[in-house]
Amino acid sequence: MAVYVHSRPLVAYVLGALLASVAAQSEYGQCGGIGWTGGTTCPAGWVCTDLNPYYSQCLQDTSGGTTTAAPTSTSAPTSTSTSVTSTLTGIAASAPTIGPSHDVGKLPALGWNSWNAYGCNINETKVLNAASQFISLGLADAGYEYVNIDDCWPLTARDASTGRIVPDPSKFPNGISGVAEKVHALGFKFGIYSDAGTATCAGFPGSLGNEELDAATFAEWGVDYLKYDNCNVPGNWTDASTPPGGDWYNSNSAIRYRQMTAAMNDTGRPFQFSLCIWGNANVWDWGARVGHSWRMSGDSSASWSYITSIITTNVQHLDSIDFYSHNDMDMMEIGNGALTIQEQRTHFAAWVLFKSPILLGTDLALLNSTQLDILTNAELLAFHQDATIGTPAAPFAPTTGATIPSLPEFYAGTSSKGTHVFIINTNSTATAMTFDFANVPGLGSGSFVVHDMWTGKDLGTFKTSYSTTVDTHDTAALYIEPA
Ligand SMILES: *[C@@H]1O[C@H](CO)[C@@H](O)[C@H](O)[C@H]1NC(C)=O
Ligand SMILES: *[C@@H]1O[C@H](CO)[C@@H](O)[C@H](O)[C@H]1NC(C)=O
Ligand SMILES: *[C@@H]1O[C@H](CO)[C@@H](O)[C@H](O)[C@H]1NC(C)=O
Ligand SMILES: *[C@@H]1O[C@H](CO)[C@@H](O)[C@H](O)[C@H]1NC(C)=O
Ligand SMILES: *[C@@H]1O[C@H](CO)[C@@H](O)[C@H](O)[C@H]1NC(C)=O
Repeated sequence: MAVYVHSRPLVAYVLGALLASVAAQSEYGQCGGIGWTGGTTCPAGWVCTDLNPYYSQCLQDTSGGTTTAAPTSTSAPTSTSTSVTSTLTGIAASAPTIGPSHDVGKLPALGWNSWNAYGCNINETKVLNAASQFISLGLADAGYEYVNIDDCWPLTARDASTGRIVPDPSKFPNGISGVAEKVHALGFKFGIYSDAGTATCAGFPGSLGNEELDAATFAEWGVDYLKYDNCNVPGNWTDASTPPGGDWYNSNSAIRYRQMTAAMNDTGRPFQFSLCIWGNANVWDWGARVGHSWRMSGDSSASWSYITSIITTNVQHLDSIDFYSHNDMDMMEIGNGALTIQEQRTHFAAWVLFKSPILLGTDLALLNSTQLDILTNAELLAFHQDATIGTPAAPFAPTTGATIPSLPEFYAGTSSKGTHVFIINTNSTATAMTFDFANVPGLGSGSFVVHDMWTGKDLGTFKTSYSTTVDTHDTAALYIEPA
């Protein structure tokens, strides 16, 4: 498998005993990169390989070498570290500028993706089971719609005569079109995965340079949604510095994605386009001109630290969120790992209040009734899927003079129903949390009925302020109307 190693010096160090107690990441899983908060060790025989500043991945060790990892950093890469004379101006001058289809993707996607549940170990049965479970578990009635396959669906080689990507017949005996047909017959939409590089993260064919052929193939198969990853990018397609004019829409990274947008448009089939670009290249500034949603970071992990770090990142880019324009906080981890039920509520509530795509990432059969109640909560999903107000909730200062921390706890937002307040307790103990109604944008002073969106029950009528004890790492979700 050819792996492009970023031209930035590969800083490798032996992790040794330091991380001996940390569980290894999965094969082809993420193990480092800017903003990465998960584990950095790989299974035996696999090596943490630095693909670019944002992404290190467990790849098969072909050298018999030591376990290495990219150093992680919370700061952006400096734009002056490498001087590259790029042909950016020339490419940017001729790159397509066609936008994404607005027949789809107005609201953030609701669905399921195979990766967090199965990684590379996917097949038709598992995908169709997820579709059936949408119905049997009440997820379809709640609005879950997309059934999406991630990496590892094809053979490693394209068809020698047609050049097309070939579905792996041992995993998908009826091809991808066969799966799409069954998913459609159940009433859902179907998504697939490719990569804006020469190979996917797991080493299967990428679409860079084959955009027209691959988009036509996906359209012919009946694909409705494309997740487009960012691994194995040739050196001349990366961005070593700020593009001329400072507009990242004209960066090499953006142009790789723009080529696929144009190719999808040429098929005549509306695709929902998910840019899996890891928060690279200031994507929040131009993502809506190219796709419907864009990843804000490296891969999610089932950890409280991931949830808090992605919230901290996202609150800096709330202006980018509206209809057809969604910051993607990555796939859900409810059902995976050791998140407490309070943390799982906060995970869901945060994706709701920021209007991130919500793609479930577990074997749905493993979800218990408490988890399903969270994921199908009608009032939170109504905020997320509001067809008349596309903007997210935003942080506010709960009392006059209070400051908003970098990980805000109080958020207010508007739905077509009215005003909502969300309170995240980031403290490690249950905490009484108070806000003044006059501090909530749009409310003013007076008496208000406070309603609990989780239970669907009114909590009473309150004057001036409202105070509630929020459990550690839990989120209160409130609807507030004048009394
Ligand atoms: C292709 O782009 C044109 C021009 O923006 C637009 O009218 C049309 O709906 C697009 N078609 C698809 C399938 O995206
Ligand atoms: C998919 O994998 C499961 C579990 O390993 C197996 O039971 C099933 O038969 C497989 N289906 C296909 C189509 O290979
Ligand atoms: C990178 O090189 C390939 C092969 O020469 C070329 O087709 C492509 O346009 C180049 N990309 C950029 C951004 O210059
Ligand atoms: C479901 O699992 C969570 C832990 O993820 C647990 O807190 C909760 O009590 C469980 N609910 C039921 C009904 O077993
Ligand atoms: C966390 O709770 C403790 C005990 O109530 C309190 O003293 C502390 O100020 C709280 N910290 C934050 C950040 O809310």
